[in-house]
Amino acid sequence: MTKPMLQVALDTKDIPTAIGVARQVVDVVDVVEAGTLLIYEEGLSAVRSLRALAPDKIVLADTKTADAGGDVGKECKDAGADWMTCINAATVPTMVSAQEQIEVQVELYNNWTEELAQKWIDAGIDQLVYHQSRDAKIAGQAWGEKDLNEVKKLIDMGFKVSVTGGVKPEVLKLFKGVDVYTFIAGRAIHGAKDPHAAAMEFKNEIDRLWN
Ligand code: 5RP
Repeated sequence: MTKPMLQVALDTKDIPTAIGVARQVVDVVDVVEAGTLLIYEEGLSAVRSLRALAPDKIVLADTKTADAGGDVGKECKDAGADWMTCINAATVPTMVSAQEQIEVQVELYNNWTEELAQKWIDAGIDQLVYHQSRDAKIAGQAWGEKDLNEVKKLIDMGFKVSVTGGVKPEVLKLFKGVDVYTFIAGRAIHGAKDPHAAAMEFKNEIDRLWN
């Protein structure tokens, strides 16, 4: 069993804030994410800045791309990203053209099926992000057995599955013993008074549960 990686999602309003947090956690995390909200504000300059700060880490551009996968993929790669995201509603050709440029993660939000997931893996896309949407969580959705079973099913299909959406350290034990690829935490780290201590809390919990 491999130990899950830890990813910080930098959904901050501007690059200086993102850099300020990234500096505090870069020694703890495995993946540094230029969040969708940050990219809306600052464009792919955010990716360039994070790449410069974290030359040895995986950098993800969370573009949630729905179309023009090849063009967006090339832009993300040129900006220094290793991975980018496509939303599950994108067509398989969009995902494949992005994947020709850069490694793609498909973000699962709504209306995806196992049949569709099989098409992704058949097309060579093997990374998924199992996501509880921020808005669904505000509406009361919580992490539970249903999520665990979906994640396990996707791993059994052959995907590397990352887990995100309001994840806090106490959520991790739900997935104990499961080959989660990466836990992605945003507000729990960048919104914390002490982002380094918050990231360490995640890391220690991963080490405790996947020893
Ligand atoms: C929002 C995202 C976020 O980056 C992801 O959900 C992690 O952030 P948080 O832990 O704050 O929910 O992709 O669409």
